[in-house]
Amino acid sequence: MTDLFLGLDVGTQGTKALLVDERAIVGRAASAYELLPDLPPGAAEQHPETWWSAVRACVRELGQSVDLARVRGIGVSGQQHGFVALDAARLVLRPAKLWCDTSTAAEARELTQMLGRAVPTGFTASKILWLKRHEPQHFARLAHVLLPHDWLNFRLSGELAMECGDASGTGLFDPAARAFDARACYAIDESLAAKLPRLVAPEEPMGRLTKAAASELGLPAGIPIAPGGGDNMCAAIGSGATRPGVATLSLGTSATVFAYARTPVLDPAGAIAPFCDSTGGYLPLLCVMNATGVLHEVARAFPGEDLESLTRAARDVAPGCDGLLFLPYLAGERVPDLPQASGTLLGIRPGSLTPARMFRAALEGVSLNLAWGVERLRALGLAIDSVRLVGGGAKNELWASMLADCLGARVQRLAESESAALGAALQAAWIVRRGSLDELAHRFVGFDGVPFEPDGARVAVYRDALARFRKSVERVHGA
Ligand code: XUL
Repeated sequence: MTDLFLGLDVGTQGTKALLVDERAIVGRAASAYELLPDLPPGAAEQHPETWWSAVRACVRELGQSVDLARVRGIGVSGQQHGFVALDAARLVLRPAKLWCDTSTAAEARELTQMLGRAVPTGFTASKILWLKRHEPQHFARLAHVLLPHDWLNFRLSGELAMECGDASGTGLFDPAARAFDARACYAIDESLAAKLPRLVAPEEPMGRLTKAAASELGLPAGIPIAPGGGDNMCAAIGSGATRPGVATLSLGTSATVFAYARTPVLDPAGAIAPFCDSTGGYLPLLCVMNATGVLHEVARAFPGEDLESLTRAARDVAPGCDGLLFLPYLAGERVPDLPQASGTLLGIRPGSLTPARMFRAALEGVSLNLAWGVERLRALGLAIDSVRLVGGGAKNELWASMLADCLGARVQRLAESESAALGAALQAAWIVRRGSLDELAHRFVGFDGVPFEPDGARVAVYRDALARFRKSVERVHGA
């Protein structure tokens, strides 16, 4: 019987689990959840225990078809930037504010000014300053700061730790030095630096599965827990963005475009995040907050339709959507920096508001916004001629082909679109087996079907549409 490795991806809408052996994926499970209801506008929170229940459900489901005694290591991927606040007894103080929480925009602006570098609203730093300002009773009891995947690692191992990939999304980190930024911590509070956990190296286990967690999950006690990483860092591993020249586009609740780099890539304009990856390299990354959620919102407006039927209908509308333009900032936006924006429809004429046109306008709006950010990645010297498409949105062929045209890049779908869970499992295999993680990743990562190539005529339509999109954003938002 071969050894197995478990990868968990704890996302915003649910947790996914993959089991891999030496060559292939041998099991998968998923468990969905929602954001906490009835929060003030802009707030997006979840209780960490929700994630743990989902992990338990997934592992139990896997155990129905696979012998879990064969599992030799676990890797955890998690939504980036969320702030898990623990007290001195290591208990969760309040629900975690998530990457998509924009209620801390004022604190983010203040930190950006104080530090002289971009601290986007989604990053953890502004959430900690927000806690100090708005919930001083909780801040007074804050003893440990963790990110979502670090908290799951803590539940599994009993140990507090971070690794450079996810830590570089806190806004409290110097990616070039691969160390916490003492000045940024001090800007929030003189006590903060002492509340951050130790940093672990990507190739070392961060701890071992405790007896208590092992018996809750039905897994062998004492197996190593990999350092894990943010979902984008794990998706980089699971899509093969572990070597220069490979770029990935992930379409989920957020959409991200990232590429592996050997040295840090710093964007003076602050649009591209200067992340570390979770293999010892770097991961310059574009993140837009509005992606699949925009499509779901349009679908909700047309009872009786779903994403499949709307996609079929949208295929018959010509590129450019007869002038209907959707600025898709329903949840506020990170790039461009408009945390408090909302969505806008422009160019409405008689007949514009059909399900087909509205849905196509939503797909085009998200794609054009991404194309705008990709221009910035290219301006920083990253070659984005070809992207590997992963995440839930990758299933939509119309969207994949539209992205090829909007980005002017080849779009290639991967056989495994759950690349974050796969990357976490591969990192776990790597820390046990050693060798080259890049080689291991490329053994697992395969392409699905033929690539979508940009089409000259449609590329020209979308180039004009992007110019109009940018002008419209400037007019509506002054950005
Ligand atoms: C990246 C980001 C999102 C979350 C989604 O900076 O905020 O992609 O990681 O889970």
